[in-house]
This record gives sequence, structure tokens and C-alpha cells, in this order.
Amino acid sequence: MNRAGYDKIGLGYSEIRRPDPRLAAQITAALGDARTVLNVGAGTGSYEPSDRQVVAVEPSAEMVAQRPSGSAPVVRAEAESLPFQDDSFDAALAILTIHHWRDVAAGLAELRRVARDRVVLLTVDPEALRELWMNRDYWPEMIELECRRMPSMSELEANLPVPTSMTLAVPRDCSDGFASAYWGRPEAILDPVVRHASSNWHEISAETTERGLGQLQKDLESGAWDRRYGYLRARDSLDVGLRLVVAELG
Ligand SMILES: C[S@@+](CC[C@H](N)C(=O)[O-])C[C@H]1O[C@@H](n2cnc3c(N)ncnc32)[C@H](O)[C@@H]1O
Repeated sequence: MNRAGYDKIGLGYSEIRRPDPRLAAQITAALGDARTVLNVGAGTGSYEPSDRQVVAVEPSAEMVAQRPSGSAPVVRAEAESLPFQDDSFDAALAILTIHHWRDVAAGLAELRRVARDRVVLLTVDPEALRELWMNRDYWPEMIELECRRMPSMSELEANLPVPTSMTLAVPRDCSDGFASAYWGRPEAILDPVVRHASSNWHEISAETTERGLGQLQKDLESGAWDRRYGYLRARDSLDVGLRLVVAELG
């Protein structure tokens, strides 16, 4: 998904993709003692810590327009070519964006170049998405899509010095409406406004989307979904592939 993509699909993003405070706390903790942070693919400003000096990089005008007033200064640029000198920031941060980059290796090289101490990424392990009911039972095409666009954990390891990866379990009432956040709220997926805010729904065909929606609606009405997966409605959180990756530099 390039800049033009987010100029179109980013409409209304900040309504549905509200940063979740429990995920935010873990992202901020991963930044450690960094005082200056470059947030690449910053979008509408989700998860930008307010207790440090942040500069944002974002290519899409539509996403920049939704940044709240008073949020960090933003530079219109792309990860693959960051307009900053070497070692300009303590940390570089990239949240749920690397699967949109044209060249992940080039983007990660740029993050390593401009950061002095660490690189922090929030991403999704595409392998973990195979097990998610919505992909396995309703939209298997999503598995192929995510394996194609999401960098694998081994690709990240090849492009970052000794990264550590931590699973972030996603709360059932997660306020950030990325696609797999609805693992315990199947009815929400039927809402086109919810789907509009996640790029995966824009990358599979309308026929595929409709086929899965029809089946999900039927299974919710008949109780088939609840017989198979109703236990999820009682869980507080689930591993749906979200990974916090930290690489210490230097
Ligand atoms: C799913 S949004 C995430 C935004 C924000 N980090 C968040 O967590 O809400 C992905 C963002 O990556 C941006 N993006 C796409 N291609 C990019 C690139 N090559 N370099 C930097 N950002 C890019 C998009 O414009 C979009 O704002």
C-alpha cells in the first residue's frame, strides 16, 4: 500500500484505529531511556509517546491531516529514504507500517542509520495468522496476502542486529481496530466502517470479502460460530501475531 493508497483508505482512520493504552504502555517501555524518537510511518500519531521528543515521518497527506493538533512535528517522507543525518535520534520507531514499505531492507537500513541506540518495531508474524479463525475459516486468502506483504521474523532478523521479539497479546476490547483485533468480536467485522480502516480488506477482492461475510453472518445467526469459538468471548486477550521487536544498536 503506497502513499496514494493511504490517501484513499486513510479516510476515517483515526475513528477506528484509536491507540490502545495497554499496547501503548508496552511500546513506550520498549523505547527504554530514549529521549529523542523518530516515528516512521507515523500515520495519525498513534502510540507516539508524550514524554519524549518525537519527530514523525509519514508519506500520506490524508493521514497527516488527521494528526491531532499539538502532536509531534511531521515530515512527509518514506522509510526507504529518510531526510536526516546519521545518528540523529536515540531511537527509531515503526508501528504497523513495515508491511507497506516498498523495500523493507532499505527502510530498516535507514532506521539503523538515523538511530543511535535502538530500533523498535510493532509488526505481525504472518505465520501466526494462519491459526486465526477469521483467516482459516472465512478468508483463507488473507493468509496468502499477509505472508506476501508482512516481513517474516527471519527477514527482520537478517536486517537488524540481534533483535528480540516479544508477543503482545491483544485485549478483546482493544481500541485499535486493526484486522485481527476483532478476534473476540465477530459482529464488528460485518461493519464496513470497521473494515475500511484496515488495509487488508482493500487488498482482497470484493467477491472474496462478500463470500466470507455471508458465511460469517449465517454462522452468527445459526449459533455455529459460537459453538466453535464462543469460548473466545470470555477470554481477556489472545496472541494474534502482534510482535514487538527491539534491536539494540552500537
Ligand atoms: C497501518 S498505518 C499505521 C500508522 C500508525 N503507525 C499507527 O500505528 O496507527 C501504516 C502507515 O504506513 C505509511 N506508509 C506506507 N508506506 C510507507 C513508507 N514507504 N514509508 C513510511 N511510511 C509508509 C502509510 O501511509 C500509513 O500511514
